[in-house]
Amino acid sequence: MTKNYPCIRTKLPGPHAIQYLEKEKIFVSPSSTKSYPLVVKSAKGMVVTDVDNNTFLDFTAGVAVCNTGHNHDQIISAIKSQSDTLIHMSGADFYNPLHIVLAEKLSAICPGPHAKKVFFGNSGAESVEAAFKLARYHTRRTIVIAFYHAFHGRTMGALSLTNSKLNQRRHFLPLVPEVIHIPYAYCYRCHYGLTPDTCNMYCVSWIREELFKTKVPPEDVAAIFVEIIQGEGGYVVPPKEFHRALYQLTRDFDILYVADEVQSGMGRTGKMFASNHFDIVPDIITVAKGIASGLPLSATVASEKIMNWAPGSHASTFGGNPVSCQAALTTIKLLEDGLIDNAAKQGTYMIHELKKLERTYPIIGDARGLGLMLAIEIVKDKETREYAPEERDSIIQKAFSKGLLLLSCGRSTIRFCPPLILSKDDADIALSIVEECLKETIQSKL
Ligand SMILES: Cc1ncc(COP(=O)(O)O)c(C=O)c1O
Repeated sequence: MTKNYPCIRTKLPGPHAIQYLEKEKIFVSPSSTKSYPLVVKSAKGMVVTDVDNNTFLDFTAGVAVCNTGHNHDQIISAIKSQSDTLIHMSGADFYNPLHIVLAEKLSAICPGPHAKKVFFGNSGAESVEAAFKLARYHTRRTIVIAFYHAFHGRTMGALSLTNSKLNQRRHFLPLVPEVIHIPYAYCYRCHYGLTPDTCNMYCVSWIREELFKTKVPPEDVAAIFVEIIQGEGGYVVPPKEFHRALYQLTRDFDILYVADEVQSGMGRTGKMFASNHFDIVPDIITVAKGIASGLPLSATVASEKIMNWAPGSHASTFGGNPVSCQAALTTIKLLEDGLIDNAAKQGTYMIHELKKLERTYPIIGDARGLGLMLAIEIVKDKETREYAPEERDSIIQKAFSKGLLLLSCGRSTIRFCPPLILSKDDADIALSIVEECLKETIQSKL
């Protein structure tokens, strides 16, 4: 079936976009990274329209947020009807029925049959801040372990755990003390030069045998913060045994296992949470991005035994806003009613096709992912695996000029995180644009 999108009618950026970009330079903080000059006017489903009426196929979902597709009709009506009734009355000081209903639902869908409690915030970083504070509060221990290439947000506590790019940390030191970073199971680039079939999860036994015997007393460790699949760090999927061994380590030393599912949660990987793929029942889970289809909301979900902090120890004026909670309840229903299954189905198709591209093109070192959390790592040479950030950026820029929105992650990787409403037709459009961009990029290097 021929689609009328993507459709690029102007030079990019178009004349209206240029006007906004000039004003942005004057009035808006320059601190965030922008991948390309896309100035968005509207969006529906898989399609984003810019201020010059160019249409783009969105394989970013607004950075893994619009899992139900942009402006889903049911989300719009949930938002409209809730805003007719109540927009705000702060969960910090008053009771809000939607807090309670959504907390009950989140307790049910988060891994594990045990009783859980939920703290609501507004962003991924806030959910991580809450988890960090809760871990110290509950355990009365100080040290927290996180991973190389991790991204947990940019507020001071969350930033202390983040270890993905220097720009995120430069000039902000010192951060929260007693955060230790260790290598993740990034098997394509194993820190120890080993391979997953024979390494026996050395990266985890190293913690037990080296770290805990030389530098870090395990009885002082409050928590290990881990992305089940590393997001900003490169969409790195570790072997199942990695999380299982890490989890066992935390059981052996009474350490909290904190799963940051801000990016991997809410159906993105073809299960409600990525933890479900690894049979892990985290002590604390952080959730944001896809939880409310674009409205600001986050949740820190912990077992009721752990979430035992005293009144006043943590709160948020806006956290758990009623309109966001209503959008979240509708989002979860849409996910359960078919979008998670669709993510699994289209993800299986996409990874199969991306693996074909990996076999065909010398600059794809690794195609990987789960569900619709997918990536290709671009390299200069398959043998040496040398990072190829220029080639990666060139593919993303070319895709933009052809109407496909992509994002980078890691040092040399392109991620694919489309809305979970993705159809095979739209997957094929994206794949063929990516293939054209790969060919052009290789050609331009010859
Ligand atoms: C795994 C993870 N944790 C935390 C965050 C921070 O979320 P936010 O930007 O909403 O603060 C992100 C954002 O990309 C993330 O991917």
